[in-house]
Amino acid sequence: MSAPEFIPVCEPLLAGNEAAYVNDCVASGWISSAGDYLARFEQGMAALCQVGHGVACANGTAALHLACAALGLGPGDEVICPAFSIISTANSIVQTGATPVLVDVEPDTLCLDPALAARAVTPRTRAIMPVHMYGHPAEMDPIMDLARRHGLVVIEDAAQVHGGGYKQKPLGGIGQMGCFSFFANKLITTGEGGMVVTDDPELARRLRLLRNLAHGPRRFEHHELGFNYRLTNLQAALGLAQLERLEATKARKAAIGDRYNQNLADLPGITLYWGRHRPSAQPVMWMYGLLLPPEIDRAAAMDWLRERGVDSRAFFLPLNQQPMYDGSRPGLPDLRGCHPVSEDAGRRGLYLPSGVGLSDEQVDRASQALRDLVLRG
Ligand SMILES: Cc1ncc(COP(=O)(O)O)c(C=O)c1O
Repeated sequence: MSAPEFIPVCEPLLAGNEAAYVNDCVASGWISSAGDYLARFEQGMAALCQVGHGVACANGTAALHLACAALGLGPGDEVICPAFSIISTANSIVQTGATPVLVDVEPDTLCLDPALAARAVTPRTRAIMPVHMYGHPAEMDPIMDLARRHGLVVIEDAAQVHGGGYKQKPLGGIGQMGCFSFFANKLITTGEGGMVVTDDPELARRLRLLRNLAHGPRRFEHHELGFNYRLTNLQAALGLAQLERLEATKARKAAIGDRYNQNLADLPGITLYWGRHRPSAQPVMWMYGLLLPPEIDRAAAMDWLRERGVDSRAFFLPLNQQPMYDGSRPGLPDLRGCHPVSEDAGRRGLYLPSGVGLSDEQVDRASQALRDLVLRG
């Protein structure tokens, strides 16, 4: 018997103007960190988020770090963020010398719980960093209210939600800064890449300065710590072509999510996220995430799927369970604590193949493999 065709978890689709724009860069020689595509991509993302400025950078992690650095965060400052997130959330705060304060997420969205965030505010809190998880927006109204009441800055992590919305407002454009990733599995990809969007011209100026080594008034004279987080025109050319196709990408991914829902909704003990969104949300289908029934071992389930040619990925390990933040590392904060919703999602969650190029047949085959696993008891 031949091995079943392998269904990757998420492959990019570069089917629009990507090759033409990249070839244009090669032909013109504008391949580095200046050029027309960079400006157009930054303006395009800013327009998508209905804000004035986009500052492109090397990746989504760099975008978060730049945002924290542009605020001037430092030792003694605290930033409230969700326990259920990628390591970049905590690292970007810690790299400025500030301390992440973890709170649990809401069970139905896996995003920062605003009530818990309110209880975590102290006189040292400077910012809140909600993460829009797996395509679903965080509950932004209470988060923005909380920030206003305490004079805090909101940095949205919009790495997974290009083109998503909350109460008809574009994600990334609600807080003072919004951070995007353009990694290959994102709704818009540049291979590697990131961007901070903001409506604040002074923050935009700081972001641009810090992105490029913080050159002083005289070039090569430096008055503060900057980074080389530049994105290239070549990457931005890809990004612009991807941005042009965003609506089509969103529509196809939503159809993939709907099809999985039809195939899987009756499975006992399983928790699905797509299609269960709140009325306030205009989600995007980034990855088709789910929680396995508690009695199923996730590692064994992923092996089972792989043997049937179906790729999958485990959810994030929560930040309070990260070895590097267990209090034993000199210079790193102790982020241990009890965040049951994050821990449960981190233990049981996985996502199924979700690439925009998947055929219906591939979605059905991935679904059937999961059905066989869950129903075999
Ligand atoms: C929520 C979130 N934030 C930040 C990042 C970091 O982005 P990058 O991989 O581009 O550094 C990711 C990456 O997947 C992410 O999912």
